[in-house]
Amino acid sequence: MSEQTEPATTFVPSGRLQLGVFFQGVNSGTVWKAAESGSQTDFESFRRIAQTAERGLFAAFFLGEGLRLREHLGRPHALDVAGRPDAQTMLAALAAITSRIGLVATQNTTYNDPADLAHRLSTLDLLSGGRAAWNVVTTDNAWTGANFRRGGYLDHADRYRHAEAFVQTAKEIWDSWDEGALAASGTDETWVDRAALRPIHHNGRHYTVDYLPRLPRSPQHHPVLFQAGDSPEGRNFAARQADVIFSAHPQYDDALQFRSDIVARTVAAGRGANDVKIMPASEFILGATSKEAQDKKAWVRSLQIGPQQAIAYLEQFWGRELSAYDPDGPLPDIDPVVEETSETRGSGFHGAKARELASTWRSEAAEKGLTIRQFVSARTSRGDATFTGSYTEVADRLQQYAVTGAVDGFNISPWLIPTGLDDIVNHLVPALQERGVYPTEYEGSTLRDNLGLANPARLPTLSPASA
Ligand SMILES: Cc1cc2nc3c(=O)[nH]c(=O)nc-3n(C[C@H](O)[C@H](O)[C@H](O)COP(=O)(O)O)c2cc1C
Repeated sequence: MSEQTEPATTFVPSGRLQLGVFFQGVNSGTVWKAAESGSQTDFESFRRIAQTAERGLFAAFFLGEGLRLREHLGRPHALDVAGRPDAQTMLAALAAITSRIGLVATQNTTYNDPADLAHRLSTLDLLSGGRAAWNVVTTDNAWTGANFRRGGYLDHADRYRHAEAFVQTAKEIWDSWDEGALAASGTDETWVDRAALRPIHHNGRHYTVDYLPRLPRSPQHHPVLFQAGDSPEGRNFAARQADVIFSAHPQYDDALQFRSDIVARTVAAGRGANDVKIMPASEFILGATSKEAQDKKAWVRSLQIGPQQAIAYLEQFWGRELSAYDPDGPLPDIDPVVEETSETRGSGFHGAKARELASTWRSEAAEKGLTIRQFVSARTSRGDATFTGSYTEVADRLQQYAVTGAVDGFNISPWLIPTGLDDIVNHLVPALQERGVYPTEYEGSTLRDNLGLANPARLPTLSPASA
């Protein structure tokens, strides 16, 4: 009889880092106006980034999901860049031209159905040889729901209850096919061994699923589960269900705190302290010297935040036209229109907090003597998510994260498409390898192999179809 081991309660740093690349598409953090800037929708951009990342032994190529074109004061957000191809379709195309990198699709649980999404994700997992992952999100507001004629659908707490039932059902679907269930040859009497199929019956508050599996399991059994969502409910959900958290906590002290918070939640959920990996969002601005990197950063920021961008940025929080304000003057002295406030509406609704936020920002800018432009530039510089410096300086900083286990890796948003990973792969990766904190080859062929995750054990609750 095998010995039942208790999940570990103490976290042990792996001393290693993994890298992922987050191809954002729709965003204002990418420099779209440089001579080298490419298209955010052409396949060539995706190919170039994915293959460069694979050359740099990246664990994952990551795509977000935006269910509705971002708007600003009732119009498409002109200063943002529109265009986000469907993640699963894009990743299926990338699966054919890559061989090792993981393929992560952000997909929401609020507007999808589990049987359908589980099937599409296992298709990606099968055709990529076990490289698929699902970044589980709930998405944030009723405005997005209006795209699906379900405005106001599910409040925040319900979204996570719904997400949990959704993910649990997807896991059952993925577990419902035993190894060897498919007939070995066309001369066999039947294509499937019925005893190896486990039917799923889920009758819950949000949906009912009556399902017989349609696909065998992939070499990694089922897609890796990422999670992105930072509320306490989101963190508990990740602690129970996720393999990896795409976090918003890259700054060192914050990352350490986030790690201990997640370890505590994971252990409380009955899982091992090391079971959930953490990869925060990040940006890298590098140079051969410290000075070169700082100069490059000033140039990048000047292209990210011009006068119009600065005003438009504040308008999202003020919910009103601010074009009469001087970008080189102080922050607006009028109050926000609370109902209209948003951060391009799709990505972080600030609603009733807007007035408080405006007043805090006004005092902060006045205290530091910052103009609108300077203030916005400081805020959007993702100061805490940006690693700026020479290759060796940044490698030294990252080494510290690896050794203390502050994170398991970083999910990098390149500020330039499609060449934005070149200096990372050509210079930072070798510097990390020299420090012994980065892989020198892919560990295996599946994403689970490369992230150091074991294939998931089958859920104990399912019984065979023949039973
Ligand atoms: C780093 C990060 C990336 C995210 N990316 C997406 C995304 O691409 N699409 C999306 O709909 N939501 C995304 N979300 C937000 C999720 O929709 C999340 O479920 C939502 O913010 C509500 O959860 P919360 O209140 O727990 O944060 C992201 C969140 C984080 C922290």
